[in-house]
Parts: sequence; C-alpha cells; structure tokens
Amino acid sequence: MVSNGRGRFIGANFVLLARQKQWANIVNLDKLTYAGNLATLRSLAGDRGHHFIQGDIGNRELVRYILDRFSVSKIINFAAESHVDRSIVAPDSFIQTNIVGTFHLLEVAKNYWQHLSEPENFRFLHISTDEVYGTLGFSDPAFTEETAYAPNSPYSASKAAADHLVRSFHHTYNLPTLTTNCSNNYGPYQFPEKLIPLTILNAYEYKPIPVYGKGENVRDWLYVADHCQAIYQVLTKGIPGETYNIGGESEKQNLEVVETICTILDEIAPQKTDRKSLITFVKDRPGHDLRYAINCEKIKQHLGWQPQENFSSGIRKTIEWYLHNPDWIESVRSGAYRQWISQNYDKR
Ligand code: NAD
Ligand code: TYD
Repeated sequence: MVSNGRGRFIGANFVLLARQKQWANIVNLDKLTYAGNLATLRSLAGDRGHHFIQGDIGNRELVRYILDRFSVSKIINFAAESHVDRSIVAPDSFIQTNIVGTFHLLEVAKNYWQHLSEPENFRFLHISTDEVYGTLGFSDPAFTEETAYAPNSPYSASKAAADHLVRSFHHTYNLPTLTTNCSNNYGPYQFPEKLIPLTILNAYEYKPIPVYGKGENVRDWLYVADHCQAIYQVLTKGIPGETYNIGGESEKQNLEVVETICTILDEIAPQKTDRKSLITFVKDRPGHDLRYAINCEKIKQHLGWQPQENFSSGIRKTIEWYLHNPDWIESVRSGAYRQWISQNYDKR
C-alpha cells in the first residue's frame, strides 16, 4: 500500500492507525512540503511494516519504482496542498500537486495495474473534500454524492479537477478507483494554520483568536480517527468507480467552535479573564463559502460506517492532545511555517 501524506495530518493519522491495527504494510511517499514534521511518525521507528520515502507524487520514475519494488496493491492519495488561505495567496503549487501530481500518479498506477497478475485486487483511493460541491445556504439540504460540483476557491477547484481525472480513469480505462469527499477534519497532528488547532494554541497561550467575518460560517466537523476508519472501509469494501461522502454529523458555526474551545480551556487551565475575550473578528476570507454539510447516508447504508465521536467528545480529546504534545507543536512551528506566516498573515 502506498500512502502519500507522512508528516502532516490525515495521512499520518491513517498510517499510525493502519500500523496499530495491522491493516497493512505501508510505503509512505511524501514530499515533506513547508512543514513536513519528523516528529509525527516517531512511534513507527523500527517498524518493518512501514517504509518512508521522501518524494513527489508527480515523479513518475520514483512512483513506478515504488510500486514495483514493494508490489503495491492499493494506493491512497492523501497528498495535496490543502489550505484554502494559502491557495488564495499562492495557487500555483495547488495546481501542480493537486491536479498535475494526481494525473501523473494515475498514469503510473494505470500502467502498473494493467500488468499485474491479479489486477482485480488493485485499488486507487483518492481522498477529496466536500468543498468541491461549493457552498450552501443555512437551510439548504446537505451535499450528496449526486450534488453538482461548483468549487469556489483555487483549492477546491484544484481538488475538483483531480476528482474528475480520477473519475475519467475509471470510466475510460476501467482503473479500479474510489473517491471519498469528506468534511472538515480535526484531531491530533493538524497543522496550526487551520481553525481548530490555531484556536487551541492561541487560546491556550492567551493570544488573539482570529475569526473571519462574523464567525457565522458553518462547517461539518469530522474527527480524524473516524475519517481514517471510513477510508479503510471504502478501501476494503467500496465498489470501484463509486464516490462516498464522509461527514461527522456535527455542523457548527465557527463562533460556536471557537467559544467551545475557550470554555474547555478555561476549565482545564483557568486564567483571570475568560478566553472568549481573545476572540478578534478580522477581515473575511475572499469568496468565503458560507456552509458545508455532508449527507453520509450512502457510506452508512452501504458500508456500515458511522462516526464514533460527536463534536463535544472529539474536541475535548483534541484539546488534550495539543496540551500534551508541546514537542510536536514546537517542531511544526519552527522554520518555514513561521516564515510563511510572518510574510502572509500580518493579522496574526
Ligand atoms: P496536509 O496539508 O496536512 O498534508 C498533506 C501532505 O501531502 C503533507 O504531508 C505534504 O508534505 C504532502 N504533499 C504535498 N504535496 C506533495 C507532493 N507533490 N508529493 C507528495 N506529497 C506531497 O493535508 P491533510 O489535511 O492531511 O489533507 C489530506 C487530504 O485530505 C488532502 O487531499 C485534502 O484535500 C483532503 N481533505 C482534508 C480535509 C481537512 O479538513 N484537513 C478535509 C477534506 C479533505
Ligand atoms: P479552515 O480550518 O481553514 O478550513 P476550510 O477553509 O477548509 O473550511 O477554516 C474553517 C473555517 O474557519 C472557515 O470558515 C474559515 C474560518 N477561519 C477563521 O475564522 N479564522 C481562522 O484563523 C481560520 C484559519 C479559519
């Protein structure tokens, strides 16, 4: 199995869970972009079922070599440029990795699969996002797998393009692909540029907490371990050519998310003044999608998956994880990330 996404968030959580549960041996290809973090998979040192290779999904020669050398039977494509705000400031790498990189990976996978002696066991699972569906009004029905694509940011447009390429490789060449479109994830090892880890760290350290616009935007929060379990179920039981929506059934307005984190931290580490006083409303994100909501009936009915965490249990676990892992936080805050933030985010 090849899994791209080592140092960062969802791929790293999947690799850790997969090894812990002995789901499979993993070959882990990752470019280690601006904040690839050597600390994340430290617990796998010495694990003979896990190989890490630093490289780009767009490097056909390298990917070909890995597939042959390790007789890979499943590819999961976690690799991406993933942060909407970065895609607004500098979209080039999103096009390069999310579209062109996925295309190269598909091409190599197709040629490899066509020469396998047991091609029926091969799968190409592409990890995508609910953001490809665009935005919803407060009372619109949630996105289903049939909702038309209408991406609004360079990030979501690049993911939509990749999803279409994956679809076309199934339709045209019969490559056994699967696509998952999930909602906003949260949990251990998430880079502190996204709303939840940023808020946890700023609130804990008693720094301003930036909330875009009025804080009314809604996201459906999915605990990362639930997402990883869903990925495994799609990989092992999903029907090639199908797409599956994955959501946490936990829609929240941003302000509620931020206030909940403040309240929990006030309880765990009280300060003289409530942390809600740190909330700072800042200029809205350009083209900010109002609401995402996932209807995940298909994966529930067809594959028997459902989220185990609700938002109040998941957010507590997440806060506790960040408070107990200062070394990891320090390692992601050093170097390139700090420099990028200071150049692009003077509001912080
Ligand atoms: P992340 O940014 O934390 O991690 C992405 C990983 O991809 C990093 O380890 C990075 O080094 C690697 N990478 C980037 N470019 C690469 C390249 N060219 N070759 C090889 N490796 C490369 O992202 P994440 O939050 O873990 O997201 C993983 C996937 O899930 C992405 O496809 C993203 O679009 C999707 N997704 C994420 C969320 C979320 O809330 N985090 C929600 C929906 C979908
Ligand atoms: P984010 O974590 O960047 O995920 P996405 O844009 O993929 O949904 O943002 C989640 C929501 O939080 C989104 O509506 C933007 C908002 N947000 C803030 O209000 N302040 C912040 O500092 C960040 C990073 C996000």
